Amino acid sequence: MSYTERLPRIRTYLMCPPEHFTVEYAINPWMDTTVPVDPALALKQWQMLRDTLTDLGHTVHVLEAVPGLPDMVYAANGAFSVDGKVYGARFKYPQRAAEAAAHRQFYVGGPWTFADPEYVNEGEGDFAYMPDAHGGLILAGYGFRTDPAAHAEAQEVLGRPVISLKLVDPAYYHLDVAFAALDDRNVTYFPEAFSESSQRVLAQLFPDAVIADRADAEAFALNLVSDGRNVILNSESTALGEKVRAAGYNPVYVELGELKRGGGSIKCAVAELRP
Ligand code: ARG
Repeated sequence: MSYTERLPRIRTYLMCPPEHFTVEYAINPWMDTTVPVDPALALKQWQMLRDTLTDLGHTVHVLEAVPGLPDMVYAANGAFSVDGKVYGARFKYPQRAAEAAAHRQFYVGGPWTFADPEYVNEGEGDFAYMPDAHGGLILAGYGFRTDPAAHAEAQEVLGRPVISLKLVDPAYYHLDVAFAALDDRNVTYFPEAFSESSQRVLAQLFPDAVIADRADAEAFALNLVSDGRNVILNSESTALGEKVRAAGYNPVYVELGELKRGGGSIKCAVAELRP
């Protein structure tokens, strides 16, 4: 079998250090408030992730952590940008609500057009952009966090078609724990996290997708960041790593165990900025 060569595209990312990271409330099935987190280890692992991205040639901007917002390390949830336009987040749970303003501040005054949302949406947690799929396509999840009305709102703000996908398993409560872009046109996903109709939509749009299984999803393997060639996965995710390698990509592993306690991994900690 022959593959097109998988070429990296240099990216700009936004991350927020886990300086105030704790698990003091439970808003997803992975969070256990009785097991303490190791803040020093969380910070060390986060720094390794940031260094891995910069060593690959990408730019990482850092958003200052705010005391009292323990989930702010999951920077992907703070907004969704496409073509220099930013659709702001509006969090479902009050514990995270104030994170939206911190992200908003990062964009306003910069080279961005910022739109405040009317509907609940958790940024790149539930939105993904595929610049080279069907001329530029947004994939959007709903069922647990993001209001489906936000999908239409995002389409109006961003001017790109939005495909709504229904998530059905509470363990995979955001799109980015069940689905990931591997490059500008190809994806990987765990079918059973989606309704049957949404599985059909994904199969139609992405016939060359790398299909993940339940063990991959449980390892948070789908919560990956790819630059089109290098696929950054948490170190539990070697099985999916081998599947993406077989499809011509280069898996790169980073240990990120502490962040799993909050119900997130690599992608949750990294927002992509698309000027
Ligand atoms: N504890 C956070 C929450 O439940 C985890 C967010 C994970 N982020 C993500 N992009 N999936 O909201």
